[in-house]
Amino acid sequence: MHDDICRIIYTAEEIEQAVKDLGRRISADYSDKNLFMISVLKGSVIFMSDLMRAITIPCTIDFLAVSSYGAGTDTTGEVRILKDLDGPLQDRDLLVVEDILDSGVTLAYLLELLTARHPRSIRVCTLFDKYERRKVDIKPEYIGLRVPNEFIVGYGLDYAEKYRNIPYIGVLKPEIYSD
Ligand code: IMP
Ligand code: MG
Repeated sequence: MHDDICRIIYTAEEIEQAVKDLGRRISADYSDKNLFMISVLKGSVIFMSDLMRAITIPCTIDFLAVSSYGAGTDTTGEVRILKDLDGPLQDRDLLVVEDILDSGVTLAYLLELLTARHPRSIRVCTLFDKYERRKVDIKPEYIGLRVPNEFIVGYGLDYAEKYRNIPYIGVLKPEIYSD
């Protein structure tokens, strides 16, 4: 698995520090709110579980699953809901927890869908920001780390469902996904 990586972008320690910083900021900003964290499966589960433990105020969580990619490395613009939230969003201060913001197409669709359910507030927290690739105008309130315009795996991020359990973030060798 590690042999398929050609370059490390962020180490596990650098990611841990970024997650702690985000947790501190969110805890301060939501101290008088009803924090409801929504994780977008599957990529953000590792980030979600670390982030919620870095948050020192009460919070509740749920999960959403959407598909936008299939097994490739480029966005199709097509987003499908595979698993919806369990309950209504009234009186809740939503924080959408994303692994990586790339074109932003997936998130734009999700925000539209969630806003239509009238939460009290809605914000976005993304761990990684591949800002050079943005196609829609989305500015998350919380951004962990900027990443270059390359396909990365690890810390929850996959290529064809593999490599999610690598604890750091790295770039796959081109020969892995070019065939
Ligand atoms: P977007 O709609 O283009 O912003 O795509 C967002 C989703 O694509 C993320 O939640 C990831 O699941 C996936 N994605 C985007 N870039 C990468 C990458 O570099 N590695 C792995 N998954 C990625
Ligand atoms: Mg993915």
